[in-house]
Amino acid sequence: MIGDAVRDDRKSATLAGRHVAAPKGARSVGRFDLARDVLRSHDMCQAGVGADQRVIGDPRFTPVFFLDGEEHKLRRQAIARFFTPKAISTRYRVTMEQTSDRLVAGLRSRGRGQLDDIAFELTVGVAAEIVGLTNSDPAAMARRISAVLITTRTPDMPRWLRPAGSALAAAAAMRFFVQDVRPAIAARKRQRRTDVISHLLDEGYPNKAILIECMTYAVAGMVTTREFIVMAAWHMFDNPELHRRFVGSDEAGQLAILEEILRLEPVAAIIHRRSGADVDFESGHVAAGERLAVMIRDANVDEEVVGECPFALDPDRGTRSRVVGAYLSFGEGSHRCPGSQVALNESRVFLDRLMRVPGLKLVRRPDMTWNQGIMSYELRRAILTCERE
Ligand code: HEM
Repeated sequence: MIGDAVRDDRKSATLAGRHVAAPKGARSVGRFDLARDVLRSHDMCQAGVGADQRVIGDPRFTPVFFLDGEEHKLRRQAIARFFTPKAISTRYRVTMEQTSDRLVAGLRSRGRGQLDDIAFELTVGVAAEIVGLTNSDPAAMARRISAVLITTRTPDMPRWLRPAGSALAAAAAMRFFVQDVRPAIAARKRQRRTDVISHLLDEGYPNKAILIECMTYAVAGMVTTREFIVMAAWHMFDNPELHRRFVGSDEAGQLAILEEILRLEPVAAIIHRRSGADVDFESGHVAAGERLAVMIRDANVDEEVVGECPFALDPDRGTRSRVVGAYLSFGEGSHRCPGSQVALNESRVFLDRLMRVPGLKLVRRPDMTWNQGIMSYELRRAILTCERE
């Protein structure tokens, strides 16, 4: 699939080019080696939007994203068991397959559907299984979570509208708590299960801290994976050779294609850090107190590391490289995404079914907009049609 040196297969590059910039006062880190060293370093702390959500004194009220050092290590150790390869290949795999079958059957019976909505129902269902949000209707919960996520839109709103945006988000969070989180807590108080909410109850977390954790997984796991699934499908619709190769590949081959798409179209564009010390990496120097904007989109196309034709979609690239195929799209180091294998596997299981549907067509390409709050592209109103069953 290697084309000429200027071939650029990225769909989100122009939009990202208009919106992605290091915040004022932060240094932009786009070289892969320095980016990776920064993310791997224990001298760096979380920074950027939301890091001020960190609650001093009681780490239970701070999402795992914004913890550092020992507190962060303990939290990651505690949640690691929900993300093991065994948990993915047994428990979650069943949810991924059953939910995908149900969603694809629904599409076939209607002959039409909106891909971003279908993908969201899948990602909500899978993350809900991990978190333990399984005591309410999944489709209704997906709508309530969508409403909560208006909170990521408030930075894009005119200043005068932001209080209204925040009020709406607070009301939506309350509905999500009452209708989804509270019944899940009640059920697990009666009988624990193997999920995040049961673990939080064992640790004595109050309701508010449990709600914060559920919202963290909503943004971290449900939203990101929805955007990625729509993006991956869009690439296949526009590239029949890639489509054919995907449906004809085994699991490893399909995952390699998805990782390569994610390298080119990372859902998170920037990761923010603040340096806690003067550090001399082999790749460069970072001064104490410096704010760093790790530019994932740049690092992932650094020719030194990803090889020739960095903007071309080349599913064989991973086999020539020693770096993980998605490069820095899932971050790196202590905060590296714990859900990366969940995301890749659920996308693979779903797309493997979807892309085989007889007569499947993308009759309306998604609208692509930019969400400044989470520094990510958003793909909406992607309409599919297929032969009706
Ligand atoms: C394509 C989908 C996904 C992408 C692109 C993605 C990307 C990322 C990135 C870049 C980070 C690192 C943030 C940082 O270093 O500051 C991260 C962290 C995280 N992700 Fe994901 N993620 C995805 C799916 C998921 C899923 C499915 C889950 C869970 C069900 C999840 C849960 C988390 C959590 C809890 C963290 C915080 C980890 C920490 O701070 O220690 N993610 N993700």
